[in-house]
Amino acid sequence: MPRDRIGLLLAGGTGSRLFPATRALSKQLLPVYDKPMVYYPLSVLMQAGLREIVLITTPQDAVTYRRLLGTGARFGITLHYVLQAQARGVAEAVTLMAEAVGPRSCLMVLGDNLFLGDTPIPALAGLDPDTSHARLFTKAVADPRAFGVLGLDETGQPRTIVEKPARPASNLAITGLYALPADASDRVARQRPSERGELEITCLLRSYLDDGRLQSAALGPDVTWLDTGTHDNLLAAAQLVRDRQRRTGQPMAAPELIAYRNGWIDAEALTDLARSMQKTEYGQSLLRYLAAEATPPCAVPQSRITAMPKHLPAPAGTQSGSLSAQW
Ligand code: DAU
Repeated sequence: MPRDRIGLLLAGGTGSRLFPATRALSKQLLPVYDKPMVYYPLSVLMQAGLREIVLITTPQDAVTYRRLLGTGARFGITLHYVLQAQARGVAEAVTLMAEAVGPRSCLMVLGDNLFLGDTPIPALAGLDPDTSHARLFTKAVADPRAFGVLGLDETGQPRTIVEKPARPASNLAITGLYALPADASDRVARQRPSERGELEITCLLRSYLDDGRLQSAALGPDVTWLDTGTHDNLLAAAQLVRDRQRRTGQPMAAPELIAYRNGWIDAEALTDLARSMQKTEYGQSLLRYLAAEATPPCAVPQSRITAMPKHLPAPAGTQSGSLSAQW
């Protein structure tokens, strides 16, 4: 990924679909099982190798986000807090980012979108350094009417983009993850608010489609995508995270661990962070990770090895080498 690409994380909005739970608290600070929701999209950006991140928040919530994430140094990253006074739409974040740090190509992620998988998102690994094209990421869903929807032509190329269509052209929901070129802010400046009064991300994407500068990538079955916009989705996400973590014994979407794996913080720093949370399974799982890493693979003394049946099945969900990448 080119050095100048910046991460853009949207943690503003009113959260009105989750009232009263979000009346006094930003939606993206609600827990998803054992960690704040914002950890999940933050992990996606860090996993993509981005160390400089703009976090969009409301003036009233900024202080809480700062308390949670600080300067980002703890995770080996730099965080810029940018305030959005009113929820004028997802696309406005691009303009606010450009005002704060200058026009930059960015990887933008919506703060209520969870991308859960065992490895970094493969479609992101293939993100070419060509920052002249915008790229969206789709996921096939049973009912796409609550999302932006991508229609394809006969050759599989993007043809239409519609926000929350009553009659969707396909089952391809446009997820809340977008790679945008540096001229996105100029385009948003020319946009008009939609009927719901917002600067729509789908309108921005359509402008790239019209100019032949839009790519789309499908997220495969190895990535579970959840939009936590409703209480039911929030509960489903928490259960999924709990089940997966219990099975593997490793935390998902742990920025501390990603920072360590990326070489942005050292083992001592990770140990300190883990110890500060050692009363929790989250902290314990970080300590277990470090301990496993420090143990050579064949450290069991010969005298302790007893004969094992040859065809013993591995416990469900485990793999050989339990340090497999996970976020
Ligand atoms: O979840 C994917 C969908 O997200 C896409 O398929 C749609 O095309 C896209 O418009 C968006 O739709 P939603 O209606 O679900 O967006 P929502 O208003 O829920 O906001 C998404 C996130 O962005 C949420 O974490 C709050 C944040 N946000 C939202 C607005 C409107 C901001 O930070 N500022 C805003 O002004």
